[in-house]
Formats: sequence, C-alpha cells, structure tokens
Amino acid sequence: MIADDVYRRGRAGLPSWITDHDGRRTELPIARWMGGTHSTIEDIRADEASIAFCTGPTLDLGCGPGRLTEALTRAGVPALGVDTSSVAVEMTNHRGGLALQQDIFCAIPGAGQWSHVLLADGNIGIGGDPAALLRTVRSLLHETGTAVVEVDSASGVDDRNRTVRWETDDCVGEWFTWASVGASALYALAVTAGLRARRTVESNGRVFTELAVHSIDRGVGDP
Ligand SMILES: C[S@@+](CC[C@H](N)C(=O)[O-])C[C@H]1O[C@@H](n2cnc3c(N)ncnc32)[C@H](O)[C@@H]1O
Repeated sequence: MIADDVYRRGRAGLPSWITDHDGRRTELPIARWMGGTHSTIEDIRADEASIAFCTGPTLDLGCGPGRLTEALTRAGVPALGVDTSSVAVEMTNHRGGLALQQDIFCAIPGAGQWSHVLLADGNIGIGGDPAALLRTVRSLLHETGTAVVEVDSASGVDDRNRTVRWETDDCVGEWFTWASVGASALYALAVTAGLRARRTVESNGRVFTELAVHSIDRGVGDP
C-alpha cells in the first residue's frame, strides 16, 4: 500500500507527492503529518487549536502517523485513531496513541457514543463525497457530540470527486477520489447530514470548523 511507503519515507525525512488526474503534482505535507521533531511551531499551534475542541472521547478519522491521537491521549482525553494504513496504525500505537487499522466507512467501535470526531489535515476529502462522509460522522457521534473539520482556507471551495494518487520517487499508488471543501461549502453540506456549524477558527494558516449535532435531530425538548 502506497500510504505505508509514504509514512516510512516521512519517518526518514523523505518527500512524497499527490498528483491530480490532470498531472498537477504537489508535495505532501508529510513533516506536519509526522509531528514530533518534524513539526514547525506553526504546526504545533494549529494542532493545539484543533484539539482544543475535543474534551471527551474522540475519534481521529484518517489518523495517519497519529500525532493528534497521541496529543489527545497525553492530555488525558480518550482518543482512538482509525486508518487503513498498517504503518500509520503502527506509528500511532508506537508513540503512545491507540489506533485501529480499518476503513472509516465500516463499523467503528462505539458508534453513536463518541463525543468528538476529528477530520484533520483535509480529511473531509476522504472518499471524495463529503456529504456521505458527514452522514457517517453524524452516525458516530453522541446526540450532543461535535465534529472538528479542517477545511480549505479558501472558504468557497467545493471540489468533490477529484481523482488523485500518491507518488514517491520509485512508486505510484492507485487513483482514488478526494474532495476539498471550504468553510462556506461545509456549512451547507453539514445541514444535509444533521449537523450545523457552530464556529470556525483560523490558526497559523489552517482553518477548523466545529459542527454540532443539529438540535432538531436531537429531538424537541432536549438540552
Ligand atoms: C491526508 S492524510 C491525513 C494525515 C493525518 N491526519 C496525519 O496526521 O498524519 C489521510 C489519511 O487518511 C487515511 N485514509 C484514507 N481513506 C481512508 C478510509 N476510507 N478509512 C480509513 N483511513 C483512510 C490515509 O491512509 C491517510 O493516512
């Protein structure tokens, strides 16, 4: 699996890329994903801003090498990372987090009971259909739960079902679908999934929107 290679290379300080179907190639922010000594002070500040939303049991969907799962755990917040990459899961567990190797669209332990779901590093793009992903997120959350979604810094972006692949120096992955969503596009999509935007914060060039389970979805008279 190419994600495994990308994370092994990231650990060794080597670059990898994401390429669009039209040939546009961009370096992956792998140092940020690795965390620890690979992080800049700006990365750390933005990560702190995103996990500040999470005060109870948190699912980190598409956790990668697990810097956020680890940070939550170290802060005393129960956290579970989920990722399809075995190397990502190994790295998360190795650094003191807890992660499961599985598809986020398959049955997740504790579904319907989680206080927070984290979709960091553009993970609202997973699957290429953010509306479907947000419905999955809603099904994982408790009735008073929230989702923390990192959005594209350009608010109006709504670019779904893009075909991309990851590449290293010596190997290319399979094509997969991805999406980029800005804050204003996310607000509209969230409503269709029974979620509503509560607030959006910017930190060190990264933007996070907090979505809460919609009160109508929670039922009349609920707090
Ligand atoms: C943009 S990277 C996120 C990086 C991560 N947040 C970090 O801190 O390193 C997306 C991650 O999502 C994972 N992923 C993609 N599709 C997935 C799926 N359907 N289920 C679980 N993980 C998935 C990839 O393996 C990858 O590690």
